[in-house]
Amino acid sequence: MAFLGCSRGLGRAVCLEFDRQNHLLGSLLVARSKASLNSLAQEMSHQPCSVVMDFSKREAVKPLLDLLAETKMNRLFYFAGGGPHGLYSDKAWKDHLWSLQVSFLTPSEILHGVLSRPDLSHITQLVFVGSLIADSQADPGAASYAAAKHGLKGLIETVQSENPDRDIRFFRPGYMNTDLLPKKARPRAEGRPLLEPAAAAEGFVKWVMTPQAPKILDMGL
Ligand SMILES: NC(=O)c1ccc[n+]([C@@H]2O[C@H](COP(=O)([O-])OP(=O)(O)OC[C@H]3O[C@@H](n4cnc5c(N)ncnc54)[C@H](OP(=O)(O)O)[C@@H]3O)[C@@H](O)[C@H]2O)c1
Repeated sequence: MAFLGCSRGLGRAVCLEFDRQNHLLGSLLVARSKASLNSLAQEMSHQPCSVVMDFSKREAVKPLLDLLAETKMNRLFYFAGGGPHGLYSDKAWKDHLWSLQVSFLTPSEILHGVLSRPDLSHITQLVFVGSLIADSQADPGAASYAAAKHGLKGLIETVQSENPDRDIRFFRPGYMNTDLLPKKARPRAEGRPLLEPAAAAEGFVKWVMTPQAPKILDMGL
């Protein structure tokens, strides 16, 4: 299994849940910094292979796909996502571009690479993460993130319908108690209940390991 963007939050919790269930052997962890991979490794009883990559750089995609071909991973989970918090007009364009690259363009290009490259046909399951809120509603304070998630949802649903026999899945959590939600974000300020990443991870792992499960999983509180 390849865990892409797993240093914090949901991705980290999913790695730890697979580790707890002894399913992590032979896996590949990919994160933006060595330090975060080391801190994750300290919490695990199994020690999978790990690689540093920055998904905000388009140039990262080809080496990633080559690595997936070489290591013969058969499941791929893309968790990375994020964006600037604040009014669209107040934020610098480079921050919006960052959000669109990490949350939409990189996962889109990974999906395209896996479906089109014969040397990646061993990847039998691909899972991407949307958002119960940002992929289908206005999300004030997170315009480029919402645009990226809307785009990702449209892409995945279309590619799912073009490839009904492929196991391409879309996980749609509600608000989660992770660093992605800043202290000032509306759901925190309003005291709304937030999903704990460990609980979301437990549901995620059960779902991806169930072959006949629906291809889209909504998980809110
Ligand atoms: N939290 C929520 O309320 C919520 C709700 C719905 C959907 N989601 C989605 O759930 C997924 C996980 O989010 P989270 O809440 O777990 O967020 P998080 O705690 O902020 O974690 C985001 C993860 O993405 C990684 N990442 C970000 N930019 C990256 C880059 N350029 N290259 C490599 N890795 C990068 C981060 O790595 P670093 O440690 O290196 O930054 C981190 O591991 C995202 O797709 C998010 O959109 C979250």
